[in-house]
Amino acid sequence: MNDAIKKRLKRTAVLSILALCAGAAIAYLQVQHERSNPAQNSPHAMAGLKIGGPFTLMDHTGKMVTDTDFASDYKLIYFGFTYCPAICPTELGKMTQALNAMGTQADLIRPLFITIDPERDTVDTMRSYVSLFHPRLTGLTGTPEQIESVLKSYRVYARKVDPQPAEGDAAALGDYTMDHSSFLYFIDPRGELLAMYRTQDTAAFMAEDMAKRMKTP
Ligand code: NI
Repeated sequence: MNDAIKKRLKRTAVLSILALCAGAAIAYLQVQHERSNPAQNSPHAMAGLKIGGPFTLMDHTGKMVTDTDFASDYKLIYFGFTYCPAICPTELGKMTQALNAMGTQADLIRPLFITIDPERDTVDTMRSYVSLFHPRLTGLTGTPEQIESVLKSYRVYARKVDPQPAEGDAAALGDYTMDHSSFLYFIDPRGELLAMYRTQDTAAFMAEDMAKRMKTP
């Protein structure tokens, strides 16, 4: 591996860790801020937290879709970007593991991956990326305005971070990372948020928790 690439990978890794920490802290504060009732102080007790809403986006086959196309399904939604070196692939892998652990009950759940980086995550990029994770995973991208609107309604924190070019090393075009919050949103067919899973929640915990919530209406 040449030195320039090594340097770039190292920088991306450091930026990603910083971005993750900042993103997680901000998302946590946002969620805490939303909760006025101390009895709801568990990360999984989300009743009354208004999250989500209508959207119009483009799926990974190039088809225009809206939230109503998924209206009859439970939804497990992750927001991230395909260039993410660690957290997004880990969380999407966990999503797949959790669904696989649920057997046929998982057929009622639609896994969705919505990009926070529409500039680089084109339909083609999304198509090859989602195929790495789950056969039913739907990738969604859109115009910057469409993405901004869906991020806002799900209260996702996402921000572009330009790398500081190292001395004598011009930053390549598109060489940036994204600072973002990381939650898996579990939504029922009526659009109500049932749970938000954090990076520290395991696939086994998620599978068990989702199964329980699907049984109790
Ligand atoms: Ni990420």
